[in-house]
Amino acid sequence: MASLSLRHIYKKYPGGVTAVSDFCLEVKDTEFIIFVGPSGCGKSTTLRMIAGLEEITEGELYIGDRLVNDVAPKDRDIAMVFQNYALYPHMTVFDNMAFGLKLRKVPKETIKRKVEEAARILDISHLLDRLPKALSGGQKQRVALGRAIVRDPKVFLLDEPLSNLDAKLRAAMRTEITKLHNSLQATFIYVTHDQVEAMTMATRIVVMKDGVIQQVDSPQALYDNPVNLFVAGFIGTPQMNFINGTLEKDDDGFVYLHFGEIRIRLPEEKGNADEIKPYIEKEVIAGVRPECIVDTPMQIAAMQEASFEAYCDVTELMGAEIYLYLIANKVEVDESLKERKNVVIDRSGEQKLIARVSPRSTVRAGDTVTLAIDTTRMHLFDKETEKAIVFLTEEEKKKAARVAEAEKAAAEAENAQTETVEETPVEEPVEEKTEESVTDTSVTE
Ligand SMILES: Nc1ncnc2c1ncn2[C@@H]1O[C@H](COP(=O)(O)OP(=O)(O)OP(=O)(O)O)[C@@H](O)[C@H]1O
Ligand SMILES: [Mg+2]
Repeated sequence: MASLSLRHIYKKYPGGVTAVSDFCLEVKDTEFIIFVGPSGCGKSTTLRMIAGLEEITEGELYIGDRLVNDVAPKDRDIAMVFQNYALYPHMTVFDNMAFGLKLRKVPKETIKRKVEEAARILDISHLLDRLPKALSGGQKQRVALGRAIVRDPKVFLLDEPLSNLDAKLRAAMRTEITKLHNSLQATFIYVTHDQVEAMTMATRIVVMKDGVIQQVDSPQALYDNPVNLFVAGFIGTPQMNFINGTLEKDDDGFVYLHFGEIRIRLPEEKGNADEIKPYIEKEVIAGVRPECIVDTPMQIAAMQEASFEAYCDVTELMGAEIYLYLIANKVEVDESLKERKNVVIDRSGEQKLIARVSPRSTVRAGDTVTLAIDTTRMHLFDKETEKAIVFLTEEEKKKAARVAEAEKAAAEAENAQTETVEETPVEEPVEEKTEESVTDTSVTE
């Protein structure tokens, strides 16, 4: 069992590719950390640097209290499971699992005990005499995990271990791995680009893009409070809807999001918030999760000031819910015009939206319907920086100010070189929440 500390880690490949930039992460003992991000964003590279399979160009990696930048992979107390589980085809399951221990000259009795114990945990005891060719994909994957377990490592590194499996097996193995993590009480770092895996298994998710960490948070916090447009769009299926609009203070004193013919009133406390002031009369991007577009008369009545009309293009019945593919500000085209050649219809003002509603919804494809947006859960993003506009409560503002003051004092002290930073009276953030949000900002920048 071990904690990890990744401090300002860079990976620069010869030829000028910077695969990972300034990667900072503190992993607590027994955490289940998942790296997600699009293909090529540096997930495997980071994992391989932790394993010692890839040299760290810059920065420091600690496992526990030990700096391991120059420690050989076999001495890092780490086991890695790869996407292609590559079992030795001529060896039985037992021998495949025992192989690493035999190389290390572990006594035979110990090997037997460890392999049997791992096989029991993974429910493959009845397969120990089989050759890999007589196993299903999921069973092979379990043998690969078994090879890692018998080594009793402090840290498990898993690089897309389930991507070779079909959807049903993947779902089953997800729960297996979660159970495994619970029973082994070891630290797991897991790479995937499957956000369902990330959301269901991780204690914390690291979202990466182009080698840079975008946000580190618990699955729910990432979903509820994405720090920027990228994270907002990456986490969640169907994707968050993005609406390009303008914030305007209308005659009634309320702030509205205008897009095309539609205006949606912001909740009073958000409209009046200091954070919104710089954006009045400016273009912003609003983010609306599909479940925050509602369609029942009762819900709409409660959100009258955020209601709008849209054309329903397609409906998709998913069983427990229906996805509505909507077009707001639809451009109506005269039938006679449609028949004429060389007529280009400008649809750039149309706003496509996806709503996730109850299967009892009466909305049908081809209908023009009234809907409403739950604006209390609407996100707003700065169009230039693509960062989320964050609304803080009074209490949070006070704490943020205290932390900023403390940081300023620390910086001044350092400049004056009269005191060390540790000796300056840096006030501890009172509540964990503030501490987290402060760490996050430093991560984002
Ligand atoms: N040996 C190498 N030499 C040069 N560039 C490399 C090398 N290995 C990887 N890269 C580059 O580093 C970047 C990160 O690669 P990495 O394999 O870490 O991505 P990833 O996030 O694991 O992607 P995927 O989801 O496709 O597995 C990519 O742009 C890749 O092309
Ligand atoms: Mg990879």
